[in-house]
Amino acid sequence: MTSTDVPDVHVPTPHPVRGPLNAAFFRLVDGYGHRVLGDRKAALFTDLPRTVVELGAGTGANLRHYPAGTRVIAIEPNPAMHAPLRAAAARHHVDLEIRATVAEDTGLADASVDAVVSTLVLCTVADPAAAIAEARRILRSGGRLIVLEHVAAPEGSAVARLQRTLQSGWRWAFEGCELQRYTGELLAGAGFAEVDLERFRAGWIFLPVDHLVAGTLHR
Ligand SMILES: C[S@@+](CC[C@H](N)C(=O)[O-])C[C@H]1O[C@@H](n2cnc3c(N)ncnc32)[C@H](O)[C@@H]1O
Repeated sequence: MTSTDVPDVHVPTPHPVRGPLNAAFFRLVDGYGHRVLGDRKAALFTDLPRTVVELGAGTGANLRHYPAGTRVIAIEPNPAMHAPLRAAAARHHVDLEIRATVAEDTGLADASVDAVVSTLVLCTVADPAAAIAEARRILRSGGRLIVLEHVAAPEGSAVARLQRTLQSGWRWAFEGCELQRYTGELLAGAGFAEVDLERFRAGWIFLPVDHLVAGTLHR
């Protein structure tokens, strides 16, 4: 297991308090998140190749879904996530390489991987269109981008109003997380050969992020 710094890429400096607090929060809610989303993730993460690139891998919520021995290249800029991510890799017998860089610029070669995973990340990256284009760039023809992302609630709904009300505090607390991104539309227009996305509601206690999109895009 290694941690690779990529010095020529602009990686935002995580806040010295909120960075570790976010890592603690995602560890705390890991079991609950798995109870709510685990079955859906298990269905999405079938027949994975031996190597998977995971954008914004966080504290490793998805590693339990990868077969033992899978090589995971985790693109994770927040160093406070790295220790729990390594611990999760050890628990789930995943061969982990952490790249402390951003999804918009992974440093990986063109057409070099067969699967990219992004769960609850495109809300937070500074430039989601660039992150999606980067995933497409590093995927081989026939490779897939697997996503599960929270999105803007339908215009005029009570949740959309809640999202607008909470947005600035939420963005501050969760290090740039945007509640009202149209990520499904962005993915659908990103030039993938096949797009299979489903909108759904999680039905969990985190109402501002209860509207989600999940599915697979083929390069
Ligand atoms: C809400 S957490 C989700 C973590 C994990 N994917 C999950 O499903 O639990 C968002 C993660 O994206 C990371 N992140 C933020 N900006 C990023 C960027 N530009 N590129 C890659 N990851 C980023 C954060 O550090 C954090 O670990």
